[in-house]
Amino acid sequence: MSNNNRYLRNSWYVAALSSELGAEQFLVRTIMDVPVLLYRKEDDSPVALHDRCPHRFAPLHLGSRDGDEVVCKYHGLKFNCEGQCTENPHGNGHIPKAAKVRSYPLLEKFGFIWIWMGEKASDPALLQDFSELENGPDNGVGYTYMRMTANYKLILDNVMDLSHVDHVHGDAINTRGQLSPKSPKVESVGDAVVTSCEWEQTPPMLIFADFLPKPESEARHYFKVTWTPPTNLQLSVGATQSESGFDELVGQYDVHLITPESPNSTHYFFASRRNYNEEDPEYNAQKIQAMHDAFEHEDGPIIKAVHDMMGDNEFFDLNPVLTSNDVAAVRMRKKLESLIDEDSGVLASD
Ligand code: FES
Ligand SMILES: [Fe+2]
Repeated sequence: MSNNNRYLRNSWYVAALSSELGAEQFLVRTIMDVPVLLYRKEDDSPVALHDRCPHRFAPLHLGSRDGDEVVCKYHGLKFNCEGQCTENPHGNGHIPKAAKVRSYPLLEKFGFIWIWMGEKASDPALLQDFSELENGPDNGVGYTYMRMTANYKLILDNVMDLSHVDHVHGDAINTRGQLSPKSPKVESVGDAVVTSCEWEQTPPMLIFADFLPKPESEARHYFKVTWTPPTNLQLSVGATQSESGFDELVGQYDVHLITPESPNSTHYFFASRRNYNEEDPEYNAQKIQAMHDAFEHEDGPIIKAVHDMMGDNEFFDLNPVLTSNDVAAVRMRKKLESLIDEDSGVLASD
């Protein structure tokens, strides 16, 4: 049986990059099977409504704005930002009690718009801290969005097991076969799962090589990935040729924020802050485009092929052969499943 449509609902997920939501237009994004209409009020703060008119179920995004309110295209009911109907042009104008659409709590932080889709009251304290993204020059950070046609847990697995970088990725971030022989360290820290690894390679990862003292020579590298519920991955990666450990590091602080669209598709939000060449706008644009292309054209096709091959089967039901690099991903999946059980009121069986 598939559990691909099980989600940790009472949690914050990224709905959009802040930069995706302009002053005027509507953005529609399906999140955990629910079509959501996003827009900005005149004071710039974001709004999220169920994109479905309660009258005859027209998509609200086909309608128009009236100040901060939305007018349905089909028969003209008007809704405010809380989803309450404020005008009925029909008959005597009486507004039926049920004339409401659901509105969703939002937070705008760290360059993202976060949404709370669950039934419980939203809790801003549950939002993870990614303020490191904002800590430095504007041209030292880049943001991007991709839509992947695969289940969200396969995308989490892919970052929790970076041994695939040896095999899947082109020159820019290739790790030259050095990760696969390692058994990365895996720790549980509260609800988080943390995996890390150190290795040497020659030449260094090409995204770092030109910024190291000897671009052709061996460098020590490390990565550390921290998964926090529901689907946040923070990856730090860097290289050094210094004798004194990782103090003089050329590296980057990345976040991979994974939002289920449906059991078969996923919104993939990515941001990266680097500690080198931080003032160069052209390099910044090239760098984020190169990362985007690697995810879309290198990770994307193999993850989709895996998703299609697995069909509706649950991962563990297929009795996967597990290797030393799977420890972190398996631990993350088990923790996520138990949190989903808790969140949805199912008692864990062990
Ligand atoms: S469907 Fe929206 S007003 Fe009729
Ligand atoms: Fe990858």
